[in-house]
Amino acid sequence: MTDLVIRNGTVVREDGVDRMDVAVTGGRISAIGRGLSGARTIDADGLIVLPGGVDNHCHIEQPVSKNGASADTFATATASAAVGGTTSIVCFARQAEGETLARTVEAYREKASRSVVDHAFHVMIIDPRPEVLADELPAVVADGARSIKIFTAYDGQMLPDPQILDVLAVAKRTGAMVAVHAENHAAIKFRLAELLAAGRTDAFAHAESRPGIVEAEAVRRMITLSETAGHPVHLFHVTCDLAAEEIRRARARGVRVYSETCTHYLALTEDVLKGPMAEVAGFVCSPPMRPEADRRAVWRHLIEGTLDMVSSDHSSFRMDDPMGKLKTGPDTPFDKVANGMPGLATRLPVLFDMAVSAGRIGLERFARLTATNPAKLYGLYPRKGAVAVGADADLALWDPTKTVTLRGADLVSRAGYTPYEGRTVTGWPVLVLSRGDVVARDGRPEGAEGRGEYLPRGAYAWPELH
Ligand code: URP
Ligand code: ZN
Ligand code: ZN
Repeated sequence: MTDLVIRNGTVVREDGVDRMDVAVTGGRISAIGRGLSGARTIDADGLIVLPGGVDNHCHIEQPVSKNGASADTFATATASAAVGGTTSIVCFARQAEGETLARTVEAYREKASRSVVDHAFHVMIIDPRPEVLADELPAVVADGARSIKIFTAYDGQMLPDPQILDVLAVAKRTGAMVAVHAENHAAIKFRLAELLAAGRTDAFAHAESRPGIVEAEAVRRMITLSETAGHPVHLFHVTCDLAAEEIRRARARGVRVYSETCTHYLALTEDVLKGPMAEVAGFVCSPPMRPEADRRAVWRHLIEGTLDMVSSDHSSFRMDDPMGKLKTGPDTPFDKVANGMPGLATRLPVLFDMAVSAGRIGLERFARLTATNPAKLYGLYPRKGAVAVGADADLALWDPTKTVTLRGADLVSRAGYTPYEGRTVTGWPVLVLSRGDVVARDGRPEGAEGRGEYLPRGAYAWPELH
């Protein structure tokens, strides 16, 4: 017997958008068609039925070294994800120095056991000792943590090129995707020293310390290392024309390279950093927001297909926390401000407003950018990322006419603010289901803490993304 039928919605499937019913049995989609019946019915007339979002880039409960301590718990972050229409996340299990990777994954699985939505991990390699590469990494990959995150920047996190090649070789051998934060470490340190020596401590100096060329160099180098090792990489948070052009050119000569941007690089510019630190610290993230010409270029690259997906890079810090944004008071210098912004709740509504409501991108592409492509790249598809028979009933029912004015206080995240404070969006996920359970309704979380499941991933083929 069918448990639930979502009736008469505009259903966004991979091969078309039609008025249909979606039947749910045992937490999975059991049929898509017309005239379906079940024990319960949800009337979706006037609503769009999209796959629940898959957010492949979020930092939760990470001790972010000297940068600060993230504000959200897995319970609050995943409840905020649900409110914003996201039903699966791939977040980070960050290795502490000297720690075995088995212990790293175990510790994050324990923390994430309080999640409201389903979750998987990228293993963030900080300390690739020989035994980590030879034994520990293959073991955690085989056990289902089938992706690796590395940095080319940040003291205490960056890996030099020889170690990056070593990680790529292990990833190739074991079948793990490698995601990269790509910025040139030396260039940032050089500019930082210059700015500080000139007495600059203001927020805009953050943008000046790591401009687009710094990102583009590291993106190009990662593509070179990836080609050398014969293994693809996923370039996280592409923010500017120069970096996106490197990806476009690499693809044109046949290199398989994956890419992402984040909602904030499509919505905001570096101008948000022009103001007193106490007012703008909430916008400090890395890479920083760019000039308007780059924001427009990122849109162009997204529309043309150079960029494969849109993530949140959720990394939430409070303003008033001693480990938060303003650690040394209202005039905390830019290089001491914790990097990152909350985004799990706003990733999709802000993007839907700019992309779908504004007519830049159609519903099918929106679904691919926000759910199908990240699910395919990280081995969660076909269970996640599409409205299809056999998939989990992870569904977001969007009212395309509903307008909402965003307020940090309403968005569940413990950051307590949103970078989109006061922005009004058109289009909202009014009902969000995870495996058939309601996890958010009208902007309020409903899912029980701890109902989210861990998603171990088996071997899969590197996908073609569209
Ligand atoms: O500023 C950001 N994005 N912080 C989170 C860590 C990272 O660099 O992705
Ligand atoms: Zn990053
Ligand atoms: Zn990040």
